Amino acid sequence: MNPMMSKGFTPMGFETDVSGLALEGAWPQELSGTLYRIGPNPRFAPIEPYNPLLGDGMVHAFRIEDGCVHYSNRWVRTRQWQLEDRAGRALFATSGDPRAHDPSVARAVTDGVANTNLIWHSGRLLALEEGHAPIELHPDTLATLGPWTFDGRLSGNMTAHPKLDPRSGEMVFFANEPRRRFAEEGEIVWGVVDPDGAITRTHVVHTPFASVVHDFAVTEDFVVVAVCPVTISLVRARSGGPPLAWEPERGTHVAIARRDGTGDVRWLERSPCFVWHVLDAWNDGSKLTLDACEQRAPAFPTLDGALPVPDELGQRLTRWEIDSAGAGEIHAKQLSDEICEYPRIDERFSGRLTRHGYFACLGGPGTPDPFHRGIAHYDFEEGQMNRLSFGSTHAVSEPVFVPISEGAAEAEGWLLCVVYDEQRDTSDLVVLDARDLDRGPIARAHVPHRVPMGFHGCWVSTRSRRSTSKRP
Ligand SMILES: [Fe+2]
Repeated sequence: MNPMMSKGFTPMGFETDVSGLALEGAWPQELSGTLYRIGPNPRFAPIEPYNPLLGDGMVHAFRIEDGCVHYSNRWVRTRQWQLEDRAGRALFATSGDPRAHDPSVARAVTDGVANTNLIWHSGRLLALEEGHAPIELHPDTLATLGPWTFDGRLSGNMTAHPKLDPRSGEMVFFANEPRRRFAEEGEIVWGVVDPDGAITRTHVVHTPFASVVHDFAVTEDFVVVAVCPVTISLVRARSGGPPLAWEPERGTHVAIARRDGTGDVRWLERSPCFVWHVLDAWNDGSKLTLDACEQRAPAFPTLDGALPVPDELGQRLTRWEIDSAGAGEIHAKQLSDEICEYPRIDERFSGRLTRHGYFACLGGPGTPDPFHRGIAHYDFEEGQMNRLSFGSTHAVSEPVFVPISEGAAEAEGWLLCVVYDEQRDTSDLVVLDARDLDRGPIARAHVPHRVPMGFHGCWVSTRSRRSTSKRP
């Protein structure tokens, strides 16, 4: 059995709606909204080898209202999903190599797998996957409404990790290799979506090489993109080499662009590393601070096929202090020995100085266990990482922060996470007190089946849902 298809990763084979999940504990009356989560969930047994990064996206919704929790799940009905649904079997290889597809779809143009993240902006719920345009879902029924290209202004793909500016209402995004060239010189386009959902401007950044760029950072004044040395090369792939390769000798190159689009992009270099996810970043004048879960080396082979040793894979909270003025420099320091991933903050403070970070911990890359077994809180003032373990037979999702009220202070709220029980083969939606993890779960909603471990999710409050409506 493929380890990425077993235990908490085992796909669900059905869609369902469950009203009124069984509840336990003291459900906070202020919690009103929907937690959406998404991850890979192949519709059919995949063409081997299975790569979960390209498994069909399935969205799960937990609607919380009037002290009740209702659950629904749906596959995102991408073109690929529809073709396979009609065929009754897998046609597209999740390896990403078109030569491994079923010949009947060898030349099919798809709109991706929509399996990585969800975001709510300008009245639209978007399922995101970095190789393609977002796919819009109906926020109530989870029905697939189709690709959303911002009225044609998005020419290609979009990151799965756009940033919402809580003050301006803008969404800032980037597209890695929008022309899909994957040549020696790389290209990233970043842009701004206004609060009404219109792309108002885009900017092209030429990078030293085409690379894997999964996330980025947006502060009040800057956009920061780290080009880590995981190179992507179509030429290399065509000659039998690895399409993605870890080339640490190329170093990490950090692009710093002014958010207003003026001036030249500033490039600074630092030692080789890899980052899947950024926690947050902010700036004080020309000095920037960026916190990320950093690996010394990623799980990609070098050009001669070597893989990193496990300890290099461990993701650890690391602070980059960036001086973008004068000669410019980046000073990086690891803040905690704890291996942690899926960083989240109280997003009402995105792009500003924040005190609290939340993570999945106790497992994952760099450990013998593919699952995270705990939730962690890092207090940047105390310099302390506090962990809550759910035990060796429970796997946790990324924690999503929900404030008690819009005007509450940072960290006054809850963490929502989905916890899978391997022994019961069921999952719970768990509520934690973000200020005091040691209290343990303060409330649970029991799902009568497994919710497979996914990637990311978002919270859409009832108030936010009502106050935003999409343009016709
Ligand atoms: Fe991600």
